[in-house]
Amino acid sequence: MTTPKLWLVIPAAGSGQRMGSDRPKQYLLLRGRLILDRAIASVLDNADLAGCVVAISADDPHWQETEASRDPRVHHCIGGQLRADSVIAGLQWLEGQAGPDDWVLVHDAARPCLHPGDLARLIRELTDHKVGGLLAAPVTDTLKKSVTGSDEVLETVDRRELWRALTPQMFRYGILKSALQDAAAENRSVTDESSAVEQAGFFPCIVEGRPDNIKVTVPADLALADFVLSRF
Ligand code: C5P
Repeated sequence: MTTPKLWLVIPAAGSGQRMGSDRPKQYLLLRGRLILDRAIASVLDNADLAGCVVAISADDPHWQETEASRDPRVHHCIGGQLRADSVIAGLQWLEGQAGPDDWVLVHDAARPCLHPGDLARLIRELTDHKVGGLLAAPVTDTLKKSVTGSDEVLETVDRRELWRALTPQMFRYGILKSALQDAAAENRSVTDESSAVEQAGFFPCIVEGRPDNIKVTVPADLALADFVLSRF
């Protein structure tokens, strides 16, 4: 039996409207380097990868500004309307290279603060897993539930069983591809890889990760990410 290879897919085709900037958030500078370059390097420089593909939008004018676009180890493909479509595009790009039992790491383009220790633990803890799993952080705030559109609290949710899903998420290529394709064919909403794999009847493994592996979403996250990186 051959040792499974490890591939990296970066969905980077989002427009990041909540940031309110003149360009998608993954193309903003953070401590002198583009967020997308930081996110790619956080995995590429710290794992033994067989290949890497970044899914960008069809009309992306910024890709050529990245360091990654000049790195021969990094390829790009055209993403889709939804995050899941972009990941599927990346997985399709790997078709013919990746085997069904190979591993795929999927890491958000807007998550520049992945600590090398978390990546190493994710890979180590999942090595013999049949399906895969994800980095996640325990929820620390008290959680309230309301009806969509209402400002009234309906109930307080027990947080002891809840986790915040982070990336990278790491799954077997064959399982992940069919789970995402089935979800797309049946119009089921999936906001991360794990939810597609869960819907396919599997039980992904949770690997506890650092809570400061934040996804840059709103302007205040830039200052936070800057601070996190200053402490690495
Ligand atoms: O918008 P959000 O922050 O949830 O996006 C998470 C990741 O998915 C980002 O890296 C974004 O670029 C990517 N994405 C994508 N294709 C889309 C939408 C989002 O690759 N159509």
